[in-house]
Amino acid sequence: STDPLVVFTPSGKRGRFPIGTPVLTAARQLGVDLDSVCGGRGICSKCQVTPSYGEFPKHGVTVREGALSDWNKVEARYDEKRGLKAGRRLGCQATVQGDVVIDVPPESQVHRQVVRKAAAARAIVMDPATRLYFIEVEEPDMHEPTGDLERVARALREQWQIEAVTADLSLMAKLQPVLRKGKWQVTVALHKGHMDSTPRIVEIWPRLHEAGLFGLAIDLGSTTIAAHLTNLDTGEVIASSGLMNPQIRFGEDLMSRVSYAMMNPGGDAEMTRAVRDAINDLTRSIAQEGGIDPALIVEAVFVCNPVMHHLLLGLDPVELGQAPFALATSESLSLPARDMGLDAMNPRAQVYILPCIAGHVGADCAAVALSEEPGKSDDLVLIVDVGTNAEILLGNTTRVLACSSPTGPAFEGAQISSGQRAAPGAIERIEIDPATKEPRFRVIGSDKWSDEDGFDEEIATTGITGICGSGIIEAVAEMRMAGLLDESGLIGSAEQTGTVRSIPEGRTHSYLIHDASAEGGPRITVTQGDIRAIQLAKSALYAGARLLMDEMGVDKVDRVVLAGAFGAHISTRHAMVLGMIPDAPLAKVTSAGNAAGTGARIALCNIGARAEIERVVRQITKVETAIEPKFQEHFVAANAIPHKTDPFPELAQ
Ligand code: FES
Repeated sequence: STDPLVVFTPSGKRGRFPIGTPVLTAARQLGVDLDSVCGGRGICSKCQVTPSYGEFPKHGVTVREGALSDWNKVEARYDEKRGLKAGRRLGCQATVQGDVVIDVPPESQVHRQVVRKAAAARAIVMDPATRLYFIEVEEPDMHEPTGDLERVARALREQWQIEAVTADLSLMAKLQPVLRKGKWQVTVALHKGHMDSTPRIVEIWPRLHEAGLFGLAIDLGSTTIAAHLTNLDTGEVIASSGLMNPQIRFGEDLMSRVSYAMMNPGGDAEMTRAVRDAINDLTRSIAQEGGIDPALIVEAVFVCNPVMHHLLLGLDPVELGQAPFALATSESLSLPARDMGLDAMNPRAQVYILPCIAGHVGADCAAVALSEEPGKSDDLVLIVDVGTNAEILLGNTTRVLACSSPTGPAFEGAQISSGQRAAPGAIERIEIDPATKEPRFRVIGSDKWSDEDGFDEEIATTGITGICGSGIIEAVAEMRMAGLLDESGLIGSAEQTGTVRSIPEGRTHSYLIHDASAEGGPRITVTQGDIRAIQLAKSALYAGARLLMDEMGVDKVDRVVLAGAFGAHISTRHAMVLGMIPDAPLAKVTSAGNAAGTGARIALCNIGARAEIERVVRQITKVETAIEPKFQEHFVAANAIPHKTDPFPELAQ
């Protein structure tokens, strides 16, 4: 054929098209990923492309000026009013006039890849469940008595090939005024729905809606609630925020909250109300921080452990407190936010909750599996998500196992005498000289060590306030390496250790890290009680990992991934010295940051990832730690630092 050749980059897709074919049409026919909200009317500018000129030997094309049509009226008007970047054209207006190579920039792709800061396992590819469609709706007519909603549905069918839509009563109530205000030109937000359900109109705006759509990825932990406000077009996180879970006042850990529900009639409802109120507050504050109207939040994705899952949904968690730990449902859930009392976002926003793996292994663990993909690893990988409950996954391409282990909040700085959340003023790194037993440390908010020049002035504004989770892990490991602690975790006396920093306190000893009490400041020590709390937490973690290794029939793993909100800050070497994780080559112990939160973001941005994790979860074998006698055995042996019997050959290197 003599029709011009059109090559799209970066996809490399190509085809011949008659002169006069709009670029957007050519892209659609070739399956090139080119965005459009207005359907080619020249008003949304989502379809921008960059035509290239010159010789393209790789594609066998020579492109001359005039390979695309000159600007038409629509495109010229757009450029005059809004301005197009140099070299850019509107793909729906420019037409093919000769052989041409056309680049689709990332911001014009629907399925664009989101750039992530952490060197994480998988990229986020945009394919959100809720998208915008601009339509022109036929005006009503005395002779054609159809309703406004039916004409909206027809416009979506004819202009966007969307076969059927639904809308709830509250949407119908605003449909008529919005259609008339927009002079029959409106933008609708359509939620594609779960599985094969009919798409639902979530929102409608007069004319072209340009303020975007947003979603919340929420990691609902027992101690903290963290949320990422995400632009559903670009995948960009525009604000991140968190707050303490107000349910703490009903019990520090999960089992004490389950007991609260058991002992107090209506206690579960009380806790449900508390967490929903907190999420509503968080929604309002994060929208304000992101500078958007909270009504633009049309989706939320939750990851959480099973107890939080039930309390969020308003389900009594009582069955989760006793064997066989039956969940009300383990399937993923897609339901209106309003049904869950989440009314700070759009009134028709949709919530998606990842599936649970088992009664003790929740949607948070599923989210870690989605983000870290153990089932795609050739190496045997152990993934530990450190929190009040540790989620543990062990697997490779042949099999994936999961369990959770009740570590308690010690790793987050709770139950530690000088413990605090990771915030400015908290000691996060510690080194202890094995000869002098003198500590040096670093504080969040300062990049100097305590023995460096200028340290005092630098932290003068924040002061030193306590030790955070990663700091206490380093402190205990350093104390062991410096000989201040024996294998059983006992702190030696001043005579035994040869340092006056070992201070008697009752029948035990504490190690003094920092003393500003003379100036009215804090006195920061690591007490024998702190060591015991860390020993309990790390033993639970290690025992869970060992149980999975037993089940897999291995005594060594190829690599370890530390995840969790503060997992990224844990020094991998110190974690191993402490015996938190099994022996592995240190170079193969990495941090993944908040993997559960990342899993939530993936499910928020990509509807296909939801089907994927639902499939993956069905193939994960769960191991129940609570009723497994071997767990106790492993737990007791793991109490020693690093371990009573298990060797750590890699540490010796
Ligand atoms: Fe909207 Fe081209 S598709 S401007």
